[in-house]
Amino acid sequence: MERKYPHLFSPLYLGKKKVRVRNRIEADPTLIPLLSPESYPTEGFTAYYRAKARGGAGIVTIGETAVEWEYGRSHDYQINLWGSRAEDALAKVVDAIHQHGALASLELCHGGVFADLPFLGGRKPFGPSPFKRPSDGLITDAMTLDQMRMVARAYAEACEILQRCGFDMAVIYCGNGWLLGSFISPFYNKRTDEFGGSLENRMRFPRMVIDAVRERVGDSLLLEMRISASEFDPFHDYGKDAAYYRNAICIEDAVKAVKMVEDDIDLVEAFMGNRADIHQRYANKPSCFQPNGYYSSLARAFKTAGVKIPVMAVGSMDDPALAEKGIAEGSFDMIGLGRSLIADPELPNKIRRHREEDVRPCLRCYHCLDRNTGRYNTDKVLRFSTKCIHRFMCSVNPEIGQQHMYFPPSGESRRVVVVGGGPAGMQAALTAAERGHKVTLMERKNALGGALCFADKVPFKKVVKDYVDYLIRQVGKSSVDVRLGVEATPELVEAQSPDAVIVAIGAKPVVPPVPGVDGDNVIMAIDACLNAEKVGRRVVVVGGGQVGCEVALYLAGLGREVTVVEMRGTLAPDAGFTHRVGLIEKIEENVTALTETACVEITPRGVTARDASGALSFLEADTVVVAAGFRPLSEEADAFLDAAFDVCAVGDCRHVGDINTATRSGYDAALSL
Ligand SMILES: Cc1cc2nc3c(=O)[nH]c(=O)nc-3n(C[C@H](O)[C@H](O)[C@H](O)COP(=O)(O)OP(=O)(O)OC[C@H]3O[C@@H](n4cnc5c(N)ncnc54)[C@H](O)[C@@H]3O)c2cc1C
Ligand SMILES: Cc1cc2nc3c(=O)[nH]c(=O)nc-3n(C[C@H](O)[C@H](O)[C@H](O)COP(=O)(O)O)c2cc1C
Ligand code: SF4
Repeated sequence: MERKYPHLFSPLYLGKKKVRVRNRIEADPTLIPLLSPESYPTEGFTAYYRAKARGGAGIVTIGETAVEWEYGRSHDYQINLWGSRAEDALAKVVDAIHQHGALASLELCHGGVFADLPFLGGRKPFGPSPFKRPSDGLITDAMTLDQMRMVARAYAEACEILQRCGFDMAVIYCGNGWLLGSFISPFYNKRTDEFGGSLENRMRFPRMVIDAVRERVGDSLLLEMRISASEFDPFHDYGKDAAYYRNAICIEDAVKAVKMVEDDIDLVEAFMGNRADIHQRYANKPSCFQPNGYYSSLARAFKTAGVKIPVMAVGSMDDPALAEKGIAEGSFDMIGLGRSLIADPELPNKIRRHREEDVRPCLRCYHCLDRNTGRYNTDKVLRFSTKCIHRFMCSVNPEIGQQHMYFPPSGESRRVVVVGGGPAGMQAALTAAERGHKVTLMERKNALGGALCFADKVPFKKVVKDYVDYLIRQVGKSSVDVRLGVEATPELVEAQSPDAVIVAIGAKPVVPPVPGVDGDNVIMAIDACLNAEKVGRRVVVVGGGQVGCEVALYLAGLGREVTVVEMRGTLAPDAGFTHRVGLIEKIEENVTALTETACVEITPRGVTARDASGALSFLEADTVVVAAGFRPLSEEADAFLDAAFDVCAVGDCRHVGDINTATRSGYDAALSL
């Protein structure tokens, strides 16, 4: 049988015992908040990792686990490894992963200077040297030799626990500013004793840890080293901060560091990043502004330099052609997938079975990272609150976090009409059809996609376009009866005698009450994307939320001179935290942005703006783009209330949100039928 990706799906043998991995895909560690109050894995946790194994990954790795509980914890979602209840729960996770043919791995991490104070009981975080933390200004301690021995012992003990629970591999995290990575890094390590200075000295503590582990568990556990092969982003212009960030682990150092320990580790993952560098928050999990495999050249550098052990590339490696080519050419031996396996844990199997068109693409929106950890923006202050976490979620995979739940079939096939073919309507229709209902989807335009039709035009929204295309394909393959070009009215819907109606008619743009807003030179944001040829050379975008900023960026990319005026003090406060970091960087590079500035009048020649001091200025523009937010079509949705006994509104017509809220509300509504 001819295989499209023979290298990607060929086995790999790891370690001295030649442990077989069925293919070249590791499900990279991605934490989930599904732990018991004592921090033990729950059923949901097990189901999450089971799904990755069942979906075909060769190795499934459990995320960032604190290797010791006194100084090592850095956040809420770390498993408690200690005690028989922990071991019982972990053994079940291992069994679930093994049941579906994958190797089970767990990442061991020590928070080091980034350990989180609430878990430290008054103790001070430590690292190689005193370090002033950017988040709170706290200056951390330098570790003593006794503390290093304590941590090395903790790694050995943790690996012994993993061995007892049946794990095949442990990941020793040596990057991102966590403890071991910080010792290797000249950015953190300023010691003048035998643990600082030369690379040999900086590697002495990680070496001590690896030796302690090998002494305790021998070759019975595979060891992966996840290293920041570069702590700064080699493809990014840091401007005036360049010297500060470049005094960090670089690829040349990383290659030498790996060569120093490669006899005792079995696999190395070429990660990128440093927690102290906010740019890395999105660059090491490439955003919509970066290509697939953004930093896979770091993995290639290991291979070129003759690293003997298998090397893994990571960072949006979900393009199978790219992965296949890289492995075939010898640029790397494996790929690590993070977000794409949250979006679709079945990705490996679908690709292997030549069903790429069924892979649900990841949007690179970071909601799994930010919303699930309660991270949000408030006027430049990063807030973190676990209180706002209700359900672990992914913008495109509404089942995530609920994989352990069984929703019984409704028992009867009901006639369901869905009004509106945006993401909410399409998801509702798909889920209802999967549950055995007879679904009719009415869309007034001649194409499905709703507000997301803009994504066709905007190059950095390719991921959104891929998602819309995916939904349209899935609807096409399903039993849903799609009626395009049909403006649904309550009468028309009622005439179908539906048992249930799901209304997903979206929102409409807010037109601010500014003199001149109805002028010929004014265009709404979505129309500016769809018809960029109508937009003149000089542009003012009124409204600097996420949509305004992204439209501005798109137009700037087309060569327009763009100014954004925003009344609030910050740009894009509605964007997710991590996406916003990248977006603001791009805005600063390409667009003039005026915050605390209101548009008070639009004339045929431009915009009169008033700044925070009350001073007026005139911004010349050929075109004014309005991006002043959206209003839910709630009353229009309520008009359908008498069309059936069960009627509900989903997506933007219920509450203006995004793809995440649209997908989830569509899914939830269909699940309730
Ligand atoms: C320019 C722009 C950029 C955006 N970028 C992003 C982004 O990057 N990420 C993100 O997550 N979100 C983004 N959003 C938001 C996202 O598009 C919306 O939240 C999402 O599309 C809402 O989905 P929905 O299905 O509820 O509504 P919509 O997508 O608006 O779909 C509603 C559909 O209902 C149809 N309809 C309305 N009335 C009727 C009727 N009577 N009969 C039949 N059909 C009807 C409409 O034609 C439309 O197709 C963006 C929005 C805009 C405008
Ligand atoms: C929700 C989420 C949780 C993550 N948790 C961890 C973690 O526990 N440990 C870790 O080393 N990396 C973690 N990462 C990083 C991923 O392992 C991965 O390296 C990164 O997302 C880049 O791969 P991707 O582009 O395929 O997503 C996480 C990423 C996400 C999105
Ligand atoms: S939440 Fe967004 S970034 Fe995370 S996996 Fe889902 S689509 Fe991808």
